[in-house]
Amino acid sequence: MSCPDGSCKEPAKRSRALIMLGLMMLVFIALSGISFVKTRGQVTPDTVSFATHNAIDGKRIFQAYNCMGCHTMVGNGAYFAPDLTKEYANAGPAWLAAFLPSAGGWPTEGALKTQLLNKDIAADAGVTTIADYYKKYPGAKERVERRGGKSSYMPNLPFSTDEVGKLIAFLKYTSEMNTEGWPPEIKSGNLEKRIELAHGPSAPAATATATPVAPVEMTPAAHGKQLATDMGCMACHATDGKRLVGPAWNGIYNSQVKLADGSTVIADDAYLTESIMQPGAKTVESYPKGTMPAYGTLMTDDDVKAIVAYIKTLK
Ligand code: HEC
Ligand code: HEC
Repeated sequence: MSCPDGSCKEPAKRSRALIMLGLMMLVFIALSGISFVKTRGQVTPDTVSFATHNAIDGKRIFQAYNCMGCHTMVGNGAYFAPDLTKEYANAGPAWLAAFLPSAGGWPTEGALKTQLLNKDIAADAGVTTIADYYKKYPGAKERVERRGGKSSYMPNLPFSTDEVGKLIAFLKYTSEMNTEGWPPEIKSGNLEKRIELAHGPSAPAATATATPVAPVEMTPAAHGKQLATDMGCMACHATDGKRLVGPAWNGIYNSQVKLADGSTVIADDAYLTESIMQPGAKTVESYPKGTMPAYGTLMTDDDVKAIVAYIKTLK
């Protein structure tokens, strides 16, 4: 075909269209390429760890225990229990390490201090004193003040120490994720309020967190009872024969205790004292080793004597 008027408009239009198409292809390929770039500024679980635990392993534990059967995580899951996406950023590793092994009770300040004695936890938190910890994780302070020592609505789940570490790694990872503002606004205590609305106020916790200024005339046993509450022992030990994370205390004084190594001991003063100061020394049969924190550096000899005196009174 010739161009009688010399303008040849058709081929010019076609080449312009081809150039545009080519440009679009380039843009498409470039954008597709970018979508394959691994992180795009987003954190990935393989890069987040807590002590020796990796967030990927933590995710498996999180799934194995079906936490999302009750909790939400980045908007998915059930609405029975609080969203956990930013739990680590709010409450920090020491609070989680105190809460998870005995989720049936809310950790007290004593329990938090115990966890901070753990090198790995203090290193991860980046602080060593409780005052600094509260500054860095105000959610921990708020939880201790609001609920510390009271029972919780979460069941005790049989985590090993290893699993707790992995779960903390996973929650650390979700805290570091850029969730574009999810969860919207943490309405702390909303579950409590919902349950209160539905069933009336929950039974007042017998064990308020008031700091233990023991009146002079307090008996050692009464002082021991208060200490046991303040130090978070009651999250793991019942006094009515129930098996919690650890053995119940009633009736154990001077009883025969079967140990994991097959031997038996008499639960006298010396045994109880050792069980509190160095729980690793002997392990009760059928209970997990390494779950109970060592209180050796946290309590004076008098504190331990008082708690032993309290245990003696429990029949
Ligand atoms: C059967 C239901 C259930 C399951 C399963 C469950 N939880 Fe919970 N959890 C709860 C409830 C209910 C609460 C709120 C407790 C309260 O307010 O007294 C809670 C509270 C918590 C909290 C504290 C929340 C806060 O407000 O600070 C953490 C952390 C937590 N759960 C972690 C977990 C993890 C991790 C798993 C899985 C390994 C898990 N939970 C499995 C019911 C559950
Ligand atoms: C995180 C849970 C947990 C906390 C908190 C805890 N314990 Fe334990 N405790 C256990 C477990 C588990 C055992 C059994 C395994 C063992 O012997 O180490 C145990 C065992 C014991 C025993 C031996 C009991 C027996 O039947 O022989 C005593 C005594 C004891 N704990 C006292 C305390 C005191 C006192 C506190 C607080 C100052 C405390 N525990 C806090 C979990 C805990």
